[in-house]
Amino acid sequence: MTETQHYDVLVIGSGAAGLTLALNLARNARIAVLSKGRLQEGSTWFAQGGIAAVLDNADSVENHVADTLAAGRGLCHEDAVRFTVERSKAAVEWLIEQGVQFTRDENNQDDFHLTKEGGHSHRRIIHSADATGQAVESTLIDRVRAAKVDLFEHHIALDLIIEPDNTSRRMRCSGAYVFDREADQVRIFHAKTVVLASGGASKVYLYTSNPDGASGDGIAMAWRAGCRIANMEFNQFHPTCLYHPKAKSFLLTEALRGEGALLRLPDGSRFMHRFDERGELAPRDTVARAIDHEMKRLGCDCVYLDISHKSEEFINEHFPTVKNRCLEFGIDITKDPIPVVPAAHYTCGGIMVDSHGRTDLQNLYAIGETTFTGLHGANRIASNSLLECIVYAKSAAEHIAGVIETIAAPSEVPGWDESRVVDSDEDVVISHNWDELRRFMWDYVGIVRTRKRLERAQHRVKLLQKEIAEYYSNYKIGSDWIELRNLTLVAELIIRSAMERKESRGLHFSLDYPHLSPVAKDTILVPTNFAGQEIIAG
Ligand code: FAD
Ligand code: SIN
Repeated sequence: MTETQHYDVLVIGSGAAGLTLALNLARNARIAVLSKGRLQEGSTWFAQGGIAAVLDNADSVENHVADTLAAGRGLCHEDAVRFTVERSKAAVEWLIEQGVQFTRDENNQDDFHLTKEGGHSHRRIIHSADATGQAVESTLIDRVRAAKVDLFEHHIALDLIIEPDNTSRRMRCSGAYVFDREADQVRIFHAKTVVLASGGASKVYLYTSNPDGASGDGIAMAWRAGCRIANMEFNQFHPTCLYHPKAKSFLLTEALRGEGALLRLPDGSRFMHRFDERGELAPRDTVARAIDHEMKRLGCDCVYLDISHKSEEFINEHFPTVKNRCLEFGIDITKDPIPVVPAAHYTCGGIMVDSHGRTDLQNLYAIGETTFTGLHGANRIASNSLLECIVYAKSAAEHIAGVIETIAAPSEVPGWDESRVVDSDEDVVISHNWDELRRFMWDYVGIVRTRKRLERAQHRVKLLQKEIAEYYSNYKIGSDWIELRNLTLVAELIIRSAMERKESRGLHFSLDYPHLSPVAKDTILVPTNFAGQEIIAG
């Protein structure tokens, strides 16, 4: 028999978004939080630069809104941008109340130090040296462990449970099938509401700054459950990840450039001024494409990021994580330029939600990087992501608190049936397909795209999907299979979206359509089982 748990709210994900929501609801509801590994293994922990917010009198909401809109290349939803930026100060104050220690201004210990990043016209990034994510995540973990919230590590949600709702005549979400990695079995988690806070999908690319779990599970589960997914062609490539065979794409924060680091070619010359008058502080899409262009032009493996002109004291104070990590690879950033390449970093598209995080499927919410809120447009400006996590998590928590009492308990569902499958003796299918998928996504659906490359990628995705489905019919599932199935679906959605966009805008650049269309339009994919419609007749 499949073990079943019952909760008011099931939160899938323990990053900044999931934990903020859980903490804001803990007094109103019985909550379970799932994490596919340990609680801190999502992207939040690795965030370096900081959180963009209007905290200085010389800055304003209008400035932050204008910078976000400009970076988003005409595709941001201004209402979502205003909604987020207007709440930025309160979001940071909430984090401070939870106990997050942000770096103070060395000249005035009463104030926080604000740094600068690409596309921002003001210093507005509050940070904890260069390990902001660790400061935020560890504080939220301490708080959530002390709250009345049940935490389930090493539990991977496999699929959402959906059922007809007789009152609304639509489908509603009532829980999830969850694979317990340690017990090697599937459990049922019933809940009145489910919140996807499962992070991004950059693992679909061979080189990424993201941790291993960034496999787009929430996007894939929501799509299978009938939710619309938007703007998946806009995967952001961070311009500067460490280029070293053993470094696994370690990020070199944009705050380095904000504080004066320069990009150089192998001969030591600078090049960014040829691409944008803002030089190193142009928005990310421009910088990543410029680096890609120069690497292809010169046939070199990397370019260099140089902060060695700053004092050692300054570097130690602001960039201790970067300095120490580079030293492990024999690079002393106080003296040497750092070899860098772009790598997949952030999923700008995702599950369509409103300002409360509500999706198309009743009782299903989504928050954080897994979503499409309209904030980022065609190119996310640096450090708006953690902000979005906190603002939308708080908004969703408020909404859930107001409706939870009115939601009927879910019905029982059939248990997980594994009677017709056996243990796999063919795991090579999974590992081979993981590698193949990530390699062709990098080669064919990367920083510069063409129609032909996208068609090649689409053809290969279809073959992989067939093999993955066959595997599912015959073998017991495991976490690698779950992630591969989701990544392959996400790849399909990225390719379909990229094929629909017949222009170049922000992070999507096509050699076949190099121009910007006069009309800015989102790419919205609608599943055949669209959950936003009535399904019960009579
Ligand atoms: P994550 O923090 O990624 O958490 C996802 C959670 O979902 C994890 O707990 C994971 O285990 C869980 N999960 C996923 N799938 C499942 C499943 N199927 N079942 C159960 N659990 C699941 N943004 C900024 O604003 N400022 C920065 O300075 C910054 N720096 C960054 C540096 C790096 C190296 C990276 C990778 C990202 C950075 N970003 C930054 C982006 C930002 O960190 C992320 O967008 C943000 O942390 C995402 O938070 P999240 O809560 O949505 O997801
Ligand atoms: C960085 O520190 O460069 C990452 C900031 C971000 O992704 O927002």
